[in-house]
Amino acid sequence: MRYHSMLLSSCLLAAACAESGRDAPDPTGGIVFTPDRPEREHAPSVAPYTGSDPIVLEAQARFPTGLDLHVKVIQRTCSPTEGVCHNTKEYPDLHTAANFLAAIGAPCNVQAGTREGIFDRCERPGDRFELASNAVSSGPIEIGVLRYVPGEKPDFKLSPPTTSSPGLHIKLADPLVTDREEIWAEGRFIRTFVDPAGLVQDIAYQSFGTRWWVLSGGTELLGEVNQWQADAVNALLDVGVVEGDPNMNGIFGARHGEPVDLLVPGDPETSYLIARVRGVMEGSDVPGTRMPLANQPLSTAEMLALFCFVEGLPGGAPSRLDGAIDFKDCSYSADPTRLELYGSSGDVTWSGRIAPLLEVNCGGCHDADDPSGELILSGDEAFDALLADADGKPSMKRVEPGSPETSYLWLKLTNDPEIEGSPMPTSPLTGWRPLSSEDLDDIRIWIENGAIRD
Ligand code: HEC
Repeated sequence: MRYHSMLLSSCLLAAACAESGRDAPDPTGGIVFTPDRPEREHAPSVAPYTGSDPIVLEAQARFPTGLDLHVKVIQRTCSPTEGVCHNTKEYPDLHTAANFLAAIGAPCNVQAGTREGIFDRCERPGDRFELASNAVSSGPIEIGVLRYVPGEKPDFKLSPPTTSSPGLHIKLADPLVTDREEIWAEGRFIRTFVDPAGLVQDIAYQSFGTRWWVLSGGTELLGEVNQWQADAVNALLDVGVVEGDPNMNGIFGARHGEPVDLLVPGDPETSYLIARVRGVMEGSDVPGTRMPLANQPLSTAEMLALFCFVEGLPGGAPSRLDGAIDFKDCSYSADPTRLELYGSSGDVTWSGRIAPLLEVNCGGCHDADDPSGELILSGDEAFDALLADADGKPSMKRVEPGSPETSYLWLKLTNDPEIEGSPMPTSPLTGWRPLSSEDLDDIRIWIENGAIRD
């Protein structure tokens, strides 16, 4: 306010100011501009870790603040494999520090590429649907899935509707109670809104009137869509109806406990981003390829920094990343090896070391859905797949127990001139991202020891 009134009064004195305020010379020769800037809030100081665990010390040295974590670790989980991550929409875009901050307390899987890729615990309570008709005795019912099947409206009197007929399909969480097969009615879509003052209100935000067919014992409705109603349906789809079971597996995630967020302040174990790096959350498998897909997986020190960062986040929305990460009071500093993604060197068993190593480093491309080189290196099928003949060189086995030199897998990992195609693991950036010497040693030892499934 002060600034405005001063500018105004100097303008009144200078005649030229009226025509062009910007070019007006300040008669006093100085620039009067002293806005009230907010005090730069200094991040609270954090006492450093002074123990002797080398992993904690490494993490503290490399990642003193959340900003270091973002630049050195988070950016790597997605960049520079632009095409790998974002075209599939499977990963949230975490390229900028602002996006990373925005992930705190934000819902997960809002942009999942496929319905199957959605984790149950990312599902939110769905919007509700209600038919305004005396033929129905249910109130509003939670929507599980809303699906529009395009196509010419058939004559349902001739061929009865099914769950794949053209029209608007609504799967409901609880069955609609009626003895009718078809109901002409206005269908209302209802959502609970909470205004900034905390007032909770159920509002019917869209409606659609048509003939509704009752399918599957009332758990699914099919709304006929006439040509002139296409706009109304498109408007409805544009609004984005919140579905309670978008992955269509019959489990309404939000009914089985609190939905999780991308990053949950104070709780790394239920932070979806971290679960995507580990492949599990509290014992349940998380669908989708592991992050990072084709870059170096996170080391134990990197995992520790991520866990301690999230554990130390204050509730509410932190506004900056440059505060110090508290490694001293972080509960994971007591035993960071718990955060190892693929076991430690020295214990070279299939289940304890080799399988997790392959899963994390290779599973993104060699997954069961669409395995590169017809080779699955993720989950239960990996072991048998490794003992089979190589696809690129059928005269060789992928693994010849006892003999790394004649195992195609080993030749691929060491970029032997004998191989077809590329050395492994491939990297979109550099062509080849060789495994660390510890990882290679353990794979060689495992093959030399007979490639046993132990
Ligand atoms: C970025 C994707 C990607 C990653 C990561 C990756 N691979 Fe591959 N892999 C491929 C593709 C594509 C092929 C098929 C073309 C070829 O053989 O070069 C392949 C082929 C192979 C083959 C040959 C299979 C055969 O029977 O011909 C082996 C063995 C292999 N990969 C092992 C691995 C291992 C082990 C890792 C992890 C340490 C790994 N790959 C990581 C993409 C990948």
